[in-house]
Amino acid sequence: MTKAVGLEKSNSEAYDSRENWPPYTYRDYPDIKAETYETFMQFLNTENTSDRLMELQPWVSVCDSRCAFCYFPTTASSKVQIEPYLDLLKKELAIYAKTKYIKTSYFDEIVLGGGTPSVLSAEQIIDLIDFCKANFNTSKEYFIKITGSSKTLALKKIDKLAQYGVYQMDMGAQTFDDKLRHALCLPDSAADVEKAISHARKLGLVVCVDLMYNLPGQTMESWVATLKKAIELDAEIDAYSLHVDPGTLLEKMIKDGQSPPPGDAEYEKEMYLKAYEMLTKAGYKAVGHDRYSRVEWHMRENCLNGWPWGGILTTGAGCFMGYLQKFSYSNIENINEYMDTVRSGKLPICRLSESTTEDMMRRTMTRLYLRLPVNKKEFQEKFNTTPEKAFPKQLQKLKENDLIEIDDNEVRLTKKGELWKGNIVWEFAPNHTE
Ligand SMILES: C[S@@+](CC[C@H](N)C(=O)[O-])C[C@H]1O[C@@H](n2cnc3c(N)ncnc32)[C@H](O)[C@@H]1O
Ligand code: SF4
Repeated sequence: MTKAVGLEKSNSEAYDSRENWPPYTYRDYPDIKAETYETFMQFLNTENTSDRLMELQPWVSVCDSRCAFCYFPTTASSKVQIEPYLDLLKKELAIYAKTKYIKTSYFDEIVLGGGTPSVLSAEQIIDLIDFCKANFNTSKEYFIKITGSSKTLALKKIDKLAQYGVYQMDMGAQTFDDKLRHALCLPDSAADVEKAISHARKLGLVVCVDLMYNLPGQTMESWVATLKKAIELDAEIDAYSLHVDPGTLLEKMIKDGQSPPPGDAEYEKEMYLKAYEMLTKAGYKAVGHDRYSRVEWHMRENCLNGWPWGGILTTGAGCFMGYLQKFSYSNIENINEYMDTVRSGKLPICRLSESTTEDMMRRTMTRLYLRLPVNKKEFQEKFNTTPEKAFPKQLQKLKENDLIEIDDNEVRLTKKGELWKGNIVWEFAPNHTE
């Protein structure tokens, strides 16, 4: 039976199935209205006194092809005029850069995300990063990260980016099993992905690969082989459990009987435990929501550790991870509508949420989802109460089930709690019944 380091299967039971996403994600934000846009603009005209470093995250939500499972709002590269898009992306960045809040903010990460910014040429990528560096304050030590897919990452492009000073490449490898790759419409082979990763590693870049588990037809042997390969390539790993999203090609394939469904809740859990066991044995530490890391800096990433008080300034069509303290937002997904809105001089936000103090308390508890402790002193300073007084029933229940530990300083997950961290944070969601 699968055994995670320090966690026997027999004492790992807590909920029927694992939640892989926390509450308060972009899908729940309300549509933006004229009044909320105005409130946000007023906020942007205040000073940032949070004393937290932030992440700057321009998105290029464009892909050469569509992976069957993907829920990201991307547009096919054949339908996008890249140069006008990049001009407008810079225009949006410039609107933020001129505000008082951003002028008084410091960034320790510039992360090109979205679909696959690697569809850009090395020169376009470098130009965009140069623009960010010229218009935003960076901290003394800052990191440049680029999301890319091996299908658009020619080795020469990687050479140029490494030379420029890129610190990390994030690559969606998903699986090194060619049969599964084919079934999921991943156009390049496992050997291509491997070549791109080892080339970047040889140049000294950190490579963080996205791997997916509980894919339709994925055996435990296939999952183990993929994990072994990622360890052998000395990559950082983001291990995501498949979620079959409505509207994806995979959902249709399963409905039409062209693809088997993913495994059940028990199998999904076994696969999580297998990854946890193999990766911790190989010297990785589980950090953040789904990261396994052997890179010291990843464990002290400010943007992660500052949640929910820091910020991610995200821009570009379809971006959805933006948060600036109590405001969270996502942008217009349709790339043409996005471009028209920015052209008119407006921020292209489509959903905006402003958290109340009570929501901020609940969101502070979602630090547990990121495997971070909730510091009681900071909680007291921010909310004038303690986690125990604010959430007595939830904390009692979680403690009794050996999912959390509480001492004088903090509330933190137990080893068992790590497995159920998604479910744990839902306990703090408004109107949660269980
Ligand atoms: C925007 S992609 C970034 C990587 C890049 N676009 C690529 O594929 O090479 C982020 C990651 O989300 C994960 N992902 C996408 N759809 C998913 C789904 N339905 N369930 C779980 N993870 C998913 C994949 O691992 C993907 O690599
Ligand atoms: S997983 Fe990455 S490459 Fe595939 S469609 Fe989604 S964003 Fe594009």
